[in-house]
Amino acid sequence: AQLDIFAQLAGKKYFGTATDNPELTNASYVKQLENVLDFHQLTPANSMKWENTEPTQGNFTFAGGDQIVEQAEKHGQIMRGHNCVWHQQLADWVTDGNFTKPELLAIVENHCGTLVRHYRGKMYSWDVINECLNDDGTFRESIFFNTTGTDYIGVALRTARAADPHAKLYINDFNIEGQGAKSTAMINLVKSLQKEGVPIDGIGVQSHLIVGEVPSTMEQNLRDFAALGVEVAITELDIRMNLPATPALLQQQKEDYTTVITACQNVPECIGVTLWDWTDKFSWVPGTFAGQGAACPWDENFVKKPAYAGIIEGWLER
Ligand code: G3I
Repeated sequence: AQLDIFAQLAGKKYFGTATDNPELTNASYVKQLENVLDFHQLTPANSMKWENTEPTQGNFTFAGGDQIVEQAEKHGQIMRGHNCVWHQQLADWVTDGNFTKPELLAIVENHCGTLVRHYRGKMYSWDVINECLNDDGTFRESIFFNTTGTDYIGVALRTARAADPHAKLYINDFNIEGQGAKSTAMINLVKSLQKEGVPIDGIGVQSHLIVGEVPSTMEQNLRDFAALGVEVAITELDIRMNLPATPALLQQQKEDYTTVITACQNVPECIGVTLWDWTDKFSWVPGTFAGQGAACPWDENFVKKPAYAGIIEGWLER
C-alpha cells in the first residue's frame, strides 16, 4: 500500500532524493521521481557543482541545474542546492590557477554569488560549504584552505546570504553522523562562525552509511548540532552492503533505515531526509566501493526493498 508520507508529516519535515540529469531520460525512473507521495524534495547530484556551473572562469552554465529545478517545480517538490564550494568536481582552472589569497576569495565570492543568485527564490537550502573537514577534525587541505585558511568559508556564506536571503545556508559533510572528533570539529566550526557573525543556518549530515554500522549516537549527535541553534538535515542517505544482497542483509538494512529516519523524526530541528538517489540502478556506491552496493531503498528494477517499509516505520514511530 502506498502511504502519503507527506500527509503523515503534516508538512513538518520533507523526504526527498538526489537525482541527476542523465536519469531524466528514463521514463519509469521519472514516474517514481515525480511521485510526491514519496518525494517532496530534490537535490541535483552533479549539475550544480563547480565544474558544471563555471567550467571556465566567468562563464556560467546553468542548463543542467535549471532542468532539475524545472523537474521539481512540475510537482511542487522543494529544492536543496548542492553545492557552492567543494574540493571535488571543481573546475581545473581553479585548482591550477596559482591564485593569490585575495584572488581566490574573489573567485569564491563570484562563483557562490552568481550561482546562488541565479536560483534566488527557488531553493529551500544550499550546501554552501561541502566537506571542509578531515575525519580527525582538522580542516581539509583543499586549494581553498591552503590558499585562504578558513576565510573562504565566511566569504562563501556571506555571499550566499546576500545572493538569496531566504535560502537556508548549510555546511555539509560525511562521517558526522555519530559523535566523535569530526562532529566536535563541526560544532566548533559553527560556533566560531556564529561568533564572527557569519550566517549559518544548518548542518547537513550526509549519512553514506554501512549496513549494521549506523552510529548508536546518531540521534544524540543531531541534538548536539541542533543545540547550536541551527537546523539539521540528513542530506545524502544511503546504506551500503557487501554484495550479494542476502535476505539477512536486506533485513538489517531495513532496520538501519528505520534507525536513521527515527533519529530525524525524534529531533525537532531535523528538517528532512534526502536519499542519495532512491534506486540502486543509479547509485554512486558500486562505482566507488568495489564489491559493495544495494544501498538504496529501491532495487535496480525500481522495486521497493524492505528498506522502504523501514523508512515508513521510522516516520510513523514517535
Ligand atoms: O560527466 C562524466 C561523463 O562525461 C563521463 O562520460 C563519465 C565516465 O565516467 O563520467 C561522468 O562524470 C561522473 C559524474 O559523477 C557524473 O555522472 C564522474 O565520473 C563521477 O565520479 C561522478 O560521481 C559523482 C560523485 O559525487 C563525485 O565525487 C556522483 O555522481 C555523485 O553522486 C557524488 O555525490 C557526492 C556528493 O556530491 C558529496 N558527498 C558525497 C557524494 C558521493 O560521492
